[in-house]
Amino acid sequence: MMRLSRAAGVGLICVAGSAIAQEPVTFAKHVAPIIQQKCQVCHSPGSIAPMPLITYKDVKDYADEIRDYVGKRVMPPWHLDKTVGVHDFKNDRSLSDGQIATIMKWLDTGMQPGKPEDMPPEVKVAAADPSGWEVAGQLGQQPDLVLKSPPLTIAAQTQDKWFRPTTETGLTEARWVRAIEIRPSTAESRRVVHHVLTLLEQREEGGLTNLAAAAHDHQTSAGLFMEWSIGKAGELFPTDAGKLMLPGSRIRWEVHMFAIGKEMKDQQVELAIWFYPKGVVPPHRTVLRMFDVSRGSELDIPPNQTAMTQNFYVMQSPARIENFQPHMHMRGKAMSMEAVYPDGKREMLSSVNNFQWKWHVNYVYADDAAPLLPKGTMLVFTAWHDNTASNPNNPDPKQWVGWGDRTVDEMAHAWVDVTYLDQPEFDKLVAERKAKKKPVP
Ligand code: HEC
Repeated sequence: MMRLSRAAGVGLICVAGSAIAQEPVTFAKHVAPIIQQKCQVCHSPGSIAPMPLITYKDVKDYADEIRDYVGKRVMPPWHLDKTVGVHDFKNDRSLSDGQIATIMKWLDTGMQPGKPEDMPPEVKVAAADPSGWEVAGQLGQQPDLVLKSPPLTIAAQTQDKWFRPTTETGLTEARWVRAIEIRPSTAESRRVVHHVLTLLEQREEGGLTNLAAAAHDHQTSAGLFMEWSIGKAGELFPTDAGKLMLPGSRIRWEVHMFAIGKEMKDQQVELAIWFYPKGVVPPHRTVLRMFDVSRGSELDIPPNQTAMTQNFYVMQSPARIENFQPHMHMRGKAMSMEAVYPDGKREMLSSVNNFQWKWHVNYVYADDAAPLLPKGTMLVFTAWHDNTASNPNNPDPKQWVGWGDRTVDEMAHAWVDVTYLDQPEFDKLVAERKAKKKPVP
């Protein structure tokens, strides 16, 4: 645990309670390493953020905005309440409390540049290239298949558009999928695409291959192939699970675009797929489920008010929950996912308490932390909307808002990858998890 004292200009760094150094917080020594590690993946020239944060001057010029965005936990985009629920994620990009304190201290004490020899060497950031795939960085491998939606031109001013074309996958043999990523084709098209849904059109005889037998009677559809919304990256399945693509299959897209006051010609989105090696069949099938929270038409948000909606789902077979990804629009404020176990115990799994509609972050649980839910567990989803002026993303607090497809309408649902398990496999995973847990000293 690292803590900084409040003495002006001086950082008193305590490790396990004992002061080991007393020195001013400087850019070179303390702040630059954090910026390199947590910001430059997006804040580099040519990457997705509007400005680079590389040099002392870059960061100093944005001091006020950094104080605001970092202080409110808007940047880096990780809007989870870290004090509750599961703590381990595969894609955690948040700042620790100590890192936030260091940045704030530096801002409060005159933004000292520090000594040139303290400056860490520049880092090459793998994912900074907006035409690169984030999953390629994680897997160390380019995608095996990339499909593009047909081009669509968006006028400078027009209603939101939902474009639903179909594309052949060109597959000639069955393949298991280990990761999928969607992105607007160019940095420009990121400005007009709100979401992309992809459905895999294919016929699987005799139900879903490798779906746990216990789930066959209640999970008859494969769910969506992949969902993407502003701010999301890829979906990397656990190493024992995946999705099946068959020869002759087709992708049906739903691309939601909106006008930005300038004609945007021939906009496209891309779908990248990484396969398991030929012949490798993961033992489990994951299903992307959409858990509706707002119960559709029940969403009713009067002007200048907040609203809460809730929905409940009973798991009819044992399951592992791989991720949590809330979906709301401009008035979205928070969403949580809790489990009520068959023995009545209630547990918060995850809560996104600082939702930002431009960032549909997918919180992907670490393998050892993905919740294992016994049959009969009830999942409770709760969503909060804020239609008051205190929500900085609210375009007009005087409007009544209800459920609808446009970004100025509202929604509330969660995208969750569910891996159903048969009872013996579930018991085995629970026992393995118990054995791995370190005894409390
Ligand atoms: C995953 C990519 C990503 C990461 C990581 C990230 N940012 Fe950002 N940042 C963006 C994008 C994209 C925007 C513009 C859209 C927005 O405001 O949400 C932005 C906007 C900002 C802004 C507002 C700029 C303005 O014009 O007002 C600040 C300040 C900022 N980021 C600071 C940071 C800091 C500091 C870090 C690291 C501690 C960081 N960001 C990490 C992508 C990122």
